[in-house]
Amino acid sequence: MTQAFDVIVIGAGPGGYIAAIRAAQLGFKVACVDAWKNASGGPAPGGTCTNVGCIPSKALLQSSEHYDQARNHFAEHGISATGVKMDVAQMLARKDSVVQQNNDGILYLFKKNKISFFHGHGALAAPVDGVHQVTVSGATEATLSAPQIIIATGSSARALPGTPFDEVNVLSNDGALRVGAVPKKLALIGSGVIGLEMGSVWRRLGADVTILEGLPTFLGAVDQQIAKEAKKAFDKQGLKIELGVQVGEIKVAKKGVSVAYTNAKGEAQTLDADKLIVSIGRVPNTAGLNAAAVGLALDERGAVVVDADCKTNVPGIWAVGDVVRGPMLAHKAEEEGVAVAERIAGQHGHVNFNTVPWVIYTSPEIAWVGRTEQQLKADGVAYKAGTFPFLANGLARALGDTTGMVKFLADAVTDEILGVHIVGPMASELIAEAVVAMEFRASSEDIARICHAHPSLSEATKEAALAVDKRALNF
Ligand code: FAD
Ligand code: NAI
Repeated sequence: MTQAFDVIVIGAGPGGYIAAIRAAQLGFKVACVDAWKNASGGPAPGGTCTNVGCIPSKALLQSSEHYDQARNHFAEHGISATGVKMDVAQMLARKDSVVQQNNDGILYLFKKNKISFFHGHGALAAPVDGVHQVTVSGATEATLSAPQIIIATGSSARALPGTPFDEVNVLSNDGALRVGAVPKKLALIGSGVIGLEMGSVWRRLGADVTILEGLPTFLGAVDQQIAKEAKKAFDKQGLKIELGVQVGEIKVAKKGVSVAYTNAKGEAQTLDADKLIVSIGRVPNTAGLNAAAVGLALDERGAVVVDADCKTNVPGIWAVGDVVRGPMLAHKAEEEGVAVAERIAGQHGHVNFNTVPWVIYTSPEIAWVGRTEQQLKADGVAYKAGTFPFLANGLARALGDTTGMVKFLADAVTDEILGVHIVGPMASELIAEAVVAMEFRASSEDIARICHAHPSLSEATKEAALAVDKRALNF
């Protein structure tokens, strides 16, 4: 029997489960279908983000940071910690329990909001009497119908051609979060966000880590002054990053991997490692969606084609998050999910792509919002820049974490903030002030005139804003 709803959401990652909650808040009868299984085969809503992305990676980053602090930095505080050991199994168990808390939290939110959750694979089917149909198969078998469908099926790791993930030697983000012992030698391909975060985890735990990157520029999308500062810190940590390489044949043996590549000088090289993590971007999940059943347009990457409002070419079908254009970020997916639910309700949901923040959770953290200096130059925008180093910030000194800086870019004429770029301690939290400022179209002078608590890292933000007008007080 077909079960009728107002809205069906396919996918319960950050885009899908948040869209479902917002739609339920707006009074709709909502179903959410998600296929993810936990280790016992039960439902594990939360998508990539909760299961094999944002949350578990941050759990491992935290554990490995504690280990690094205990081994390398406690002594500065007069604390002697001898015989510090890493119990990788316990670290992974903690990570798994953090993931499960998040899975359970989403199941609770579904109940609280009276959302019908279907654990299984959702596929589009031909409409019946003009009403969209979704078939659920796998853990649950059902046929659902609704006038409005939100596709939030997310993305999966992209494999290198000819080298599929076996999750034993050749790892995607999934396997990279489940390595049972610290590899002696770890190779990564791609020094993007995952490469740096995962490389940092295993480097801090003692692995000899080499990252091979195809592009000649390190973190090309990041403001280059910030990227250079970050690179210096990673070099010091012993994270080996080779830029401008061309990866050739990859040989996978029982006990390891051998990567042939040409370095930036054109020399043939081989990198042997116990494990290889391939982090070269992600592909949208549309393969099992049966897009053809409704004539849903996909682009050449397999992403669902949407307009600025996340409408697809099929009336009543929307798509949000990693499965559509734009940055593959959990908070971007969530914002789109909320906006779509509101649009279905006839409201004016809005996502401002100019103020979507980015964070790379390395140590130091890298965070930014708005345009980089290189983008402003390319766009021919006249700008003023102000920077302030954490070295001159009292709290950063007290914390013993003085790497990096805050950088403001403001319009040369109006002083409107055009971009804020941070490398340093708690950059992930500090960036929120810049996002608020840019959302309200603040000037750098606005931030410079606001009272910031002392001592706090946020004083570096205020000082960088003052530096735009060449009047930083503490530097
Ligand atoms: P997903 O989270 O991918 O969820 C899609 C869901 O749909 C999945 O549960 C999937 O099983 C399900 N699904 C797919 N097809 C079907 C179907 N046909 N039927 C039923 N269910 C289906 N972003 C950040 O903002 N911050 C971070 O710190 C961060 N860290 C990351 C770390 C790693 C290692 C990775 C891989 C990603 C990270 N991301 C981070 C990116 C973030 O995880 C994604 O941008 C986000 O999860 C996208 O959300 P989504 O809802 O679009 O899709
Ligand atoms: P990415 O796009 O961040 O980086 C991929 C890197 O691989 C690029 O530098 C690219 O030049 C390089 N590359 C591509 N093909 C290559 C090849 N054949 N040989 C060598 N280098 C190659 O992708 P990544 O790291 O896989 O992450 C995917 C996405 O997940 C990110 O873009 C981001 O949207 C999201 N994510 C977000 C996080 C966060 O917000 N903190 C953390 C992790 C992932």
